[in-house]
Amino acid sequence: MNKKTVPISVVKIGGSTLGSDDTSLRDIVAQHGKDRLYVVVHGGGSLISEWLDQLNIETKFLDGLRVTSEPALDVVISVLRGIVNTSLVAELNSLGGRAIGLSGIDGNLIVARQTSPELGLVGTITQVRTHILTHLLSEKYIPVVAPLGIQPPNQALNINADSAAGEIAREINADELVFMTDVDGLQDESGHTLKKADQHLIEKLTRNGTLTGGMIPKTDACLRAAEVGINARIINGTKPSALLSLESESNGTSVRWNGRP
Ligand SMILES: Nc1ncnc2c1ncn2[C@@H]1O[C@H](COP(=O)(O)OP(=O)(O)OP(=O)(O)O)[C@@H](O)[C@H]1O
Ligand SMILES: [Mg+2]
Repeated sequence: MNKKTVPISVVKIGGSTLGSDDTSLRDIVAQHGKDRLYVVVHGGGSLISEWLDQLNIETKFLDGLRVTSEPALDVVISVLRGIVNTSLVAELNSLGGRAIGLSGIDGNLIVARQTSPELGLVGTITQVRTHILTHLLSEKYIPVVAPLGIQPPNQALNINADSAAGEIAREINADELVFMTDVDGLQDESGHTLKKADQHLIEKLTRNGTLTGGMIPKTDACLRAAEVGINARIINGTKPSALLSLESESNGTSVRWNGRP
């Protein structure tokens, strides 16, 4: 945990919103260092799938997590740390930002252990060492984090980007955790976007099959963050000025922790 003076927002940019015609990167550059500091965590699921297809490497999903073989991990690392991270950093810098790309392996930011034999080289986060992030933030850099983890001594692991964002937000003592995705927020059984959701509602929607796939790690991460008082939201990152209009209740779903676990 850091002793912070300026509020920190951890923003997870979904692979599904990357390249869309949104203004989130511009908004981050405009606000960073003024009244808040940003840490960006990104996904890249759809691009990883494209590359795996092109290379004829088969993967499947279990509960929204990609089963990762050794050849698949090479593609995950190449696409996340190579293509997605580099292009985000270049874009932020072209907009006047001071972005620095890193993965969870740099500075031992994300330490993990293999989740289960069934998932292959997928990691569960055991420790987040935010020293490198606080150092970069103190110099007004925008850290851009690719979700990889290290299992000591040297095994890279594929980490779900939503979990990475959630655990970083907790450890860095962020004020805000924002998931920018390709839907307006968490939807209920009738497809209506919820303004608020707590752990009870999320559990119900998961049990009745309304909350599935990529939304599962996202709501899990929101609840982990909300539990320690972080303002956690899921918003539509494809809409212009989505980040700037965060205060507005009509924007996305706010996830709250209700009572004791
Ligand atoms: N109850 C729900 N409400 C809203 N979306 C849901 C729900 N259940 C499942 N989803 C799915 O979750 C998707 C968002 O998660 P997804 O993992 O696809 O995107 P992302 O996390 O933003 O991007 P990436 O995984 O590339 O980082 C939505 O597009 C939707 O299809
Ligand atoms: Mg996802």
